[in-house]
Amino acid sequence: MGSASEFVVVANRLPVDLETLPDGSTRWKRSPGGLVTALEPILRGKKGAWVGWPGVPDTDLGPIVEDGIELYPVRLSAQEVADYYEGFSNATLWPLYHDVIVKPVYDRSWWNAYVEVNRRFAEATSAAAAHGATVWIQDYQLQLVPKMLRMLRPDLTIGFFLHIPFPPVELFMQMPWRREIVEGLLGADLIGFHLPGGAQNFLYLARRLAGQPTSRGNVGVRSKLGVVQVGFRNVRVGAFPISIDSGQLDELSRKKSIRDRAKQIRKELGNPEKVMLGVDRLDYTKGIDVRLNAIRELLEEGRMDPAQNIMVQLATPSRERVESYIQMRGDIEQQVGRINGEFGQVGRPVVHYLHRPIPREELIAFFVAADVMLVTPLRDGMNLVAKEYVACRSDLGGALLLSEFTGAAAELRQAYQANPHDLDGVKDEMVAALTQDREAGRRRMRAMRRQVLAHDVDRWAKSFLNALARDSVAGGALLGDELKA
Ligand code: ADP
Ligand code: F6P
Repeated sequence: MGSASEFVVVANRLPVDLETLPDGSTRWKRSPGGLVTALEPILRGKKGAWVGWPGVPDTDLGPIVEDGIELYPVRLSAQEVADYYEGFSNATLWPLYHDVIVKPVYDRSWWNAYVEVNRRFAEATSAAAAHGATVWIQDYQLQLVPKMLRMLRPDLTIGFFLHIPFPPVELFMQMPWRREIVEGLLGADLIGFHLPGGAQNFLYLARRLAGQPTSRGNVGVRSKLGVVQVGFRNVRVGAFPISIDSGQLDELSRKKSIRDRAKQIRKELGNPEKVMLGVDRLDYTKGIDVRLNAIRELLEEGRMDPAQNIMVQLATPSRERVESYIQMRGDIEQQVGRINGEFGQVGRPVVHYLHRPIPREELIAFFVAADVMLVTPLRDGMNLVAKEYVACRSDLGGALLLSEFTGAAAELRQAYQANPHDLDGVKDEMVAALTQDREAGRRRMRAMRRQVLAHDVDRWAKSFLNALARDSVAGGALLGDELKA
């Protein structure tokens, strides 16, 4: 293990989770979610450290090097996992930031745990970072860390990126600890969002909340386009749409072994005319129910042939002890059962559903095999799956059905876009994608591939880190630059 690091990523999870095997031994496995997909290749290419939770409670681990990345595990007790992670992060912030699809719970003891755990992350980061280092804090679980870390280590350059949507002002105002969160984020030198809308929501809130006089005095906040002035510091705010390692996916998807596996998958599915695919963490924001409802109604109306149109849903287990996730899993599995019960044949279900993470190369083979990729979230910060599908289609085949309520919709204009709240609209776009003209489909895919291959995760990270390294300049240009590029 080297000495303190010049570049430190801080995220709730390490890129790998510690897994205990039945014989009591342990091994590391890849952590779920888009954040790890995006940041892992960046950190591998840059000598740096990663501070995060190893995914299991009550486990003391010293720093380790795993796959070339220095990992600094942060210990969480079982109670903290319940209150900070399952509670405040995933039953308060997650639903609040995703348009209140389920009702956020505001619990004071969860908030106290969130403050306490954020402090622990700030202290662990302070210990890992060299003098004058650059620290990049990630996501909604750690919004207080920028301010806490600045107080501990004023020598550091601090960036923060939010991987989920930043909510409209009217919704954010529900949060009892709204001022603390805004002030926490303002500890950073640069705050990044996926889309200009999120950046604008934050700028407005910073002016409205952090600028108000309080019993503790006024922190002296002023904001203009792209910059918040906090006392004598300038905090820049901008939009940086995240992406994937598109070059690597493109290359892998061309491998003979993967193309052969794609053919075999279609054969195993009974060589239907059309294969539809969903790939998601099992999360209520992803609109898995929307696509299943659309398919059921199309089958009922005779607009879809159950013998020739097959759907595969690959769902990674997620946040399995949070009540709304338990309920949603039951609902989705019931929907799958209902469709298969009404429209399937023995040995020929219409919907194939796997509740487990799929190995990377197998997942790529599924992308290559699918005629229509179903991405129908009710709200999603970006949605990397949509970009992964496009990156895997060097054959220019396939079609993408994409919810307008994803960050990816701003870039993937040639997808079949639909409003997930308008079921008839979703059904029509699904049929259009299933029956698209081959040449028209190729034109759409070519245009989307141009966008995804040119705007990869490396470009995203560079654009954020270059902006962070620049001295405080007028930040207006940050608000939507990357989308136009
Ligand atoms: P989120 O960050 O909310 O989970 P994203 O779509 O941005 O959503 O990223 C999800 C990541 O997890 C993608 O890289 C995707 O390939 C991966 N993933 C999703 N479902 C599965 C699955 N069933 N098996 C393996 N990987 C999955
Ligand atoms: O950005 C989405 C995100 O919440 C990440 O912060 C997280 O790593 C990923 O999804 C998976 O969620 P979890 O860490 O709660 O399993």
